[in-house]
Amino acid sequence: MDYIDDLKTLLKKRLSKKRYNHSLNVASAASELAKKYGEDIEKAYIAGLLHDICKEIEPEEQEQMMLRGDMELSGAELAVKALWHGPAGAYFIKNELHIDDEEIINAVRYHTVGRSGMSKFEEIIYLADNISEDRDFKDVEKIRKLAFTDFEKAMYEAVCYSISSIVKKQSYIPDKTMDLYNQYTYLCSVRKKSKEKNDGKKQ
Ligand SMILES: [Fe+2]
Ligand SMILES: [Fe+2]
Repeated sequence: MDYIDDLKTLLKKRLSKKRYNHSLNVASAASELAKKYGEDIEKAYIAGLLHDICKEIEPEEQEQMMLRGDMELSGAELAVKALWHGPAGAYFIKNELHIDDEEIINAVRYHTVGRSGMSKFEEIIYLADNISEDRDFKDVEKIRKLAFTDFEKAMYEAVCYSISSIVKKQSYIPDKTMDLYNQYTYLCSVRKKSKEKNDGKKQ
């Protein structure tokens, strides 16, 4: 547990009280989801703790780290400053904290924009960031429940919420977020069709 205590000490130095508290909440939600879905609980806690580690440093510093990271970045990711802390965080934990676990690195990298074909572990961090205790948007309670009862639907609702908030802000929708939306729209429509087929057979 020493390692986690060290990470918490580092986070306290880098984040406001509010953001530190959010990180603790995301870590808790991530570990609960990991427990439910058979993923590594401690690793999920660590990724949850670290996901916003670069959120409050100067934007110029975030940009530099993001660009140094040799990652594939889309136009919207480059244009929207609020998205820089994901790739910057991935660079930071890899190069400064020497974390070499690809799942943790990718979970931090994609926690804001998402992407299609995320691993379950990445999806857990994405969802945990949406349902953490400090979140209070309109449908959060619904998504919180779905996260433990219908993971697929929870992901769909979370990405819909993300896209509608971007539209409200009149900002750019990252391709990766659209890909995630399309993936889950497809999965949910396939599921709906097979349910309708089964219901039809029963009658
Ligand atoms: Fe974030
Ligand atoms: Fe966050």
